[in-house]
Amino acid sequence: MCGIIGCTGRDDAVDVVLEGLATLEYRGYDSAGMAIVSGTQAAPELRVVKRAGKLASLRHAVEGQSLPGRSGIGHTRWATHGAPTDRNSHPHVSGDGSLAVVHNGIIENHEALRAELQAAGVELASETDTELVAHLVAAERDILSAGDGAAPTTDGSRLAEALRRAVRRLEGQYALAVLDVGEPETIVAARYGAPLILGHDDGVSWLASDIAGLIAHTRDVEVLLDRQLAVLTPGGIAVSDLDGQESEGVRYKVDWDVDAAEKQGYPHFMLKEIYEQPQALTDTLLGRLGEDGTLALDEQRFADGELRRIDKVYVVACGTSYHAGMVGRYAIEHWARLGVEVEIASEFRYRDPILNPHTLVIAISQSGETTDTIAAAAHARDQRAPVLAVTNVVGSTLARQADGVLHTRAGPEIGVAATKTFLTQVVAADVLALFLAQERRTLLPEEIADAFARLEALGPLLEQVLAHDERIAELAHRLAGADYFMFIARHAGLPIALEGALKLKEISYLHAEGFPAGEMKHGPIALIDDGGPVIAIATRSHVRSKLLSNLAEVRARGAVVVALATEGDPEIAAAADHVIALPDVHELLAPILAVVPLQLLAYHVAVALDRDVDQPRNLAKTVTVE
Ligand code: AGP
Repeated sequence: MCGIIGCTGRDDAVDVVLEGLATLEYRGYDSAGMAIVSGTQAAPELRVVKRAGKLASLRHAVEGQSLPGRSGIGHTRWATHGAPTDRNSHPHVSGDGSLAVVHNGIIENHEALRAELQAAGVELASETDTELVAHLVAAERDILSAGDGAAPTTDGSRLAEALRRAVRRLEGQYALAVLDVGEPETIVAARYGAPLILGHDDGVSWLASDIAGLIAHTRDVEVLLDRQLAVLTPGGIAVSDLDGQESEGVRYKVDWDVDAAEKQGYPHFMLKEIYEQPQALTDTLLGRLGEDGTLALDEQRFADGELRRIDKVYVVACGTSYHAGMVGRYAIEHWARLGVEVEIASEFRYRDPILNPHTLVIAISQSGETTDTIAAAAHARDQRAPVLAVTNVVGSTLARQADGVLHTRAGPEIGVAATKTFLTQVVAADVLALFLAQERRTLLPEEIADAFARLEALGPLLEQVLAHDERIAELAHRLAGADYFMFIARHAGLPIALEGALKLKEISYLHAEGFPAGEMKHGPIALIDDGGPVIAIATRSHVRSKLLSNLAEVRARGAVVVALATEGDPEIAAAADHVIALPDVHELLAPILAVVPLQLLAYHVAVALDRDVDQPRNLAKTVTVE
């Protein structure tokens, strides 16, 4: 939700900022803007260019302008306060135009700050909360310049001290980067509750909201932590805390390279990411089962025996990750014999659930930065419940705050609609179920090894499912004229029906809903009219015969039925208008195969309708606001 970028030490700072924004555009695309310190050494000047709309509008505005400069900051916006207009685009500047700020997050006490600044005679140029920060920092800087006797800070930057003082006044979440003509080659950044990654190499320092923004320059990164500030200069990066004391973020080496974040010949990132799923599944499982036959987590900070004493599990997540948690529930209940509740994080965090040290809370988030999921995990920890994170981002906020972590190894996902991160979350949830079964001794080691081998065997089967792509594309073109899609399923297929509907509505903007097939006759069947598509997950399971009856019921009322069925199932074939045959696998693992045709269906419907597949309207990849 908003991407910020910064670079100091390169003569072509404007190009570096633009390229960085291109890699971060998936975080928000309502507007884009940049500030560069230009002019001469003796008379530096701050140049700001910003435009509503996608990055292409900013590029167009920058073209033909001469913007030489060695330091710059940029922003790509998902609008919260104020409509997506030029005026509300970031960066925002101080009254005298000498200082610029970009921001990801929400300042919650903006009304009080706005009133205070206006009472002091400050004229505001936008409706945003961010502009207030620009005025606050500039005011603190001016007080410091006038000399208030404050002791020098370890980083020696007046701008850093001004930002430090300003952020003490802020309530809410922020990742901020500030540029000031008074310190032309310095960028100062601060973070609380929104991600910020730093990198330095060979006389250049960078900052970005996520790794995608830095990976073209360096794989050695430092994650800035909450309540830390960073001073970036060409010579290096100094991290300090809010008291000005030297500090350190979390350093690590990124294990993917720049190619992973390119389209590599595919028309869209989403299609590339769908096709990467067999490899992503293999990577997520790689090395998990040790030579001694035991499963281990990636990070484990649980107390001895803590997991063995667990008697209840909550899964908290949002959107697609919530659906992955729903799939995981079936596996945890079946293999680890634990009761599982799956909850939307934004609801869980404001409930009063019964939690204690014997309740395990599993937080699932591909980004590891979703505000509601982080808050739900914190809510659990406050009640001394241990938290286990499933995330695709090493070093993310969620991963750092959890007692244990299982990483999905999907690689970077740029398409806003989650595909390979979902599939690997489901795989990870299955691994977790087996891990809990091992800890609780509800399965024998050979049963765990057998289930794990079945998971590993899904890689080649996923390739077989992808081979249906062309047929699904034809079907999608035929169905794209429908204005309402229903997805139905039972048991472990149900979360896949919900996910299929979410995927379709996200990128095609068509109305789609998923239902438990058994619920149809309690209301939703009234929606069926002649020719309306009903997509059914009807693979082999102990509830398949029940689903067969549900197919007959909707077909009798005129629905066009598309069934995902197990290969060689003549009954389902007879009950459907179109069948997509999937390899025969264990019913708890079938969701991993079944989601792929639904991702492809959503993709091809969106292409047929000429939608912006990778950057659908109103959405952003990482939701760092409530
Ligand atoms: C998925 O297609 C969505 N864009 C969205 O629902 C997403 O899954 C949700 O915002 C949760 O994100 P997270 O996994 O990064 O926490």
